[in-house]
Formats: sequence, C-alpha cells, structure tokens
Amino acid sequence: MSFLDSLFAKKEQSVLGVDIGSSSLKVVQLRKEGGKAVLETYGELALGPYGGGEVGQATSLSAEQISETLRDLLREAKVTTKSSGVSIPFSRSLLSLVNLPYRKNKDEQKTIIELEARKYIPVPIGEVQLDWFIVPKIGPKESDGEQQTVEVLIVAVHNDELATLQQVMKGADLNASFYEIEIFSTIRAVVDEPIKPVLVLDIGAASTKIYVIEQGVVAFSHSISTGSQDITRAISVSSGVSISRAEAVKKEQGIGSDPEHGSPELVFSRIFSEARRVLMQYETTSKKSISSVVLTGGGGVTRSLSAYARNVFSIDVHVADPFSKTEAPAFMRPILEDIGPEFAVAVGLALRKLAEI
Ligand SMILES: Nc1ncnc2c1ncn2[C@@H]1O[C@H](COP(=O)(O)OP(=O)(O)OP(=O)(O)O)[C@@H](O)[C@H]1O
Ligand SMILES: [Mg+2]
Repeated sequence: MSFLDSLFAKKEQSVLGVDIGSSSLKVVQLRKEGGKAVLETYGELALGPYGGGEVGQATSLSAEQISETLRDLLREAKVTTKSSGVSIPFSRSLLSLVNLPYRKNKDEQKTIIELEARKYIPVPIGEVQLDWFIVPKIGPKESDGEQQTVEVLIVAVHNDELATLQQVMKGADLNASFYEIEIFSTIRAVVDEPIKPVLVLDIGAASTKIYVIEQGVVAFSHSISTGSQDITRAISVSSGVSISRAEAVKKEQGIGSDPEHGSPELVFSRIFSEARRVLMQYETTSKKSISSVVLTGGGGVTRSLSAYARNVFSIDVHVADPFSKTEAPAFMRPILEDIGPEFAVAVGLALRKLAEI
C-alpha cells in the first residue's frame, strides 16, 4: 500500500445489526453515505430447522448451532462487513424503574444509584452487567434540589447470557462492539414520538413484549409468554394439519377467522387484553394518556391486525416501518414495508452501530 493509499484509505463504512430471536436470526447491513443510512442488504433465517423443529417456532439452540445458522445467513444475504451490534433478548434481562434520592453532584448521584441498584437485582451483583439511565423529567424543576427524587431505569444482564452471545459472534467470525437489550433497538427503529407515551407491542414467536415509551425512554416493560407460534399451534391442532401447513395458513388468513381453522383471534385477544390492562394501569398511575400503539415483531405483520387492534384500543394504531429510516430503491419499498416489523430490532442495532462511525 502506498502512502497515498493509506492516507485516503476508506474507513469501513458498512455495519451490521444482528438480532438473535427465539425463532429466527435477522441481519441488516447499512452503510453511511452523506449522513444517510443506506440499506445494503438484509436477511432472515429460521432457527427451527437447525434444531429439529419447524419454521416459525421458537427454539433453544446451543451457541454452536446458532453460529452455524448465522454463518449460513451471512453467506445467503451476502453480508460484507464484520462490524456488528447484537441484541440481547428482553427475557434475559432485568429492567426496573425506581425512584431514588436526587443529588446535584453527578458523582454522588452515581454512587447512590449503583448502591441502590443492588436491592433490585435478585442475583449477586458480580454475576451481572449493570447499566442505568436517569429518566428526564418534564415541567419546571424545583429549586430545592436536595428534596427531590430522580426516576432511574436500572438494567441488568446476566454474565452467562453475554458470554453465550460472545461465543455465537466468535463462531460466526463477527466483531461486536456492543450488546443491546432488544427493547432499546426496537425503540430506535420504530418510535418517532418524542414526548407523548406510546405503547409498543413486539409480537414475537415465543412471547409478546409490551413496552410503554415516554419521551423516548422506557417507562414500563412487560412480557407475556404468548406469541405468534401459539396461533400456528392452534391452527395445527384444530384443523389437524402439520405445523408447517398451519404456518402457511396463518400467513394467508391473517386475523380473519376461517371456521375450518383455529381462530387466531383467540390468541390475539389474550395478547391484546394483557396489553389493554398495561395501558389502563399506566394511564391510571401516570395520569397521562397513551397517544398511539405500534405493532412490531413478526406477529405484527399479521394481515388485518392493525384494523383489529384499532377496534380494541380505540386509539391510533400503526404497524412499524423501521426501513423508512433507511435509504432504499423505490421499487423495494412495498416489500420493506411488509417485512419491516420482523426486522425492527436488527435495523435499530445497525442504526446505533452506524452512529459509531
Ligand atoms: N406474515 C405473517 N403473518 C403472521 N405471522 C407471521 C408473519 N410473518 C411472520 N410471522 C410470525 O412471526 C413469528 C416470528 O416473529 P419474530 O421474527 O419477531 O420472532 P422472534 O424474534 O424470533 O421471536 P421472539 O421475539 O419471541 O424471540 C413467527 O411465529 C412467524 O410465524
Ligand atoms: Mg424478536
């Protein structure tokens, strides 16, 4: 390489978001160009078949098996970069929102938070990675600072979980500069409302994650173990077809119930009644109203779901469109809108990674 080459050598401009979901792996590769995030490639590969299961069903594979799938996916999607950010499943993390005494002095505040955080973590503090955020307050601040409290979001992830993810990345020959709890990636990709509370429903294969985001910060988070795979199972049982046939029926028929098949509405009503409970509880305690609902995750793609959800919540409901934050050829837009919800976490990770360069 000549001197000039190294002087003008292009820095690695492409980055990768890697979402390790319970039913599938998703990757999104972006490049920075003129301050914009250009979509270079994306791809998804179901984990089920790698663990003797079916497409669309949740799995619990070893790190080696996940690495193997990821290597296949990188090849299929023609991924050209190793610079990545990776998701941590919400189910493997612990989030608590707590009120702690306010200190003007930043160091004192930090000490208080880190000492108090221990009380909210049910495992020895040495076994987890701890992080926290101070939730911004709206409205005028009181001058008598010492009397106030601050709201702090405490986040913990078990070391074992991080070790497994690191092993997966090593096995796939990728470099990760951060591991992020999926909820934060999702918010970056799908929530645009800066102030008002928004309810986000991430309907995955194994579980549905319910978040309230206020001023861009997680004000509430909750997960239920009902997801889109339960619809597939219900259809399979009630109409006596294989899981893979039921998966296809689910995608064709959407929320609309066909008397011959099991009704997806039954599963969705369980998910939505829990979401409504969260919504009402949040509105009662915070005395604020939720301004809109965002549907995301593979289950969020379900046909006619947003119309059904609008009926349930009687507020604005929209389906997540994370790829709208990226530049892509116009002819691809309809496809990207269709599959967007499944890729929300991967897009969010890639966007954060892009901000690093
Ligand atoms: N068009 C569609 N209609 C209905 N369901 C769909 C559609 N596309 C995907 N799904 C379902 O979405 C689920 C996968 O969603 P997603 O990829 O968000 O899950 P995951 O991230 O692997 O799981 P989790 O978030 O629970 O770990 C599967 O059960 C799949 O059958
Ligand atoms: Mg997911």
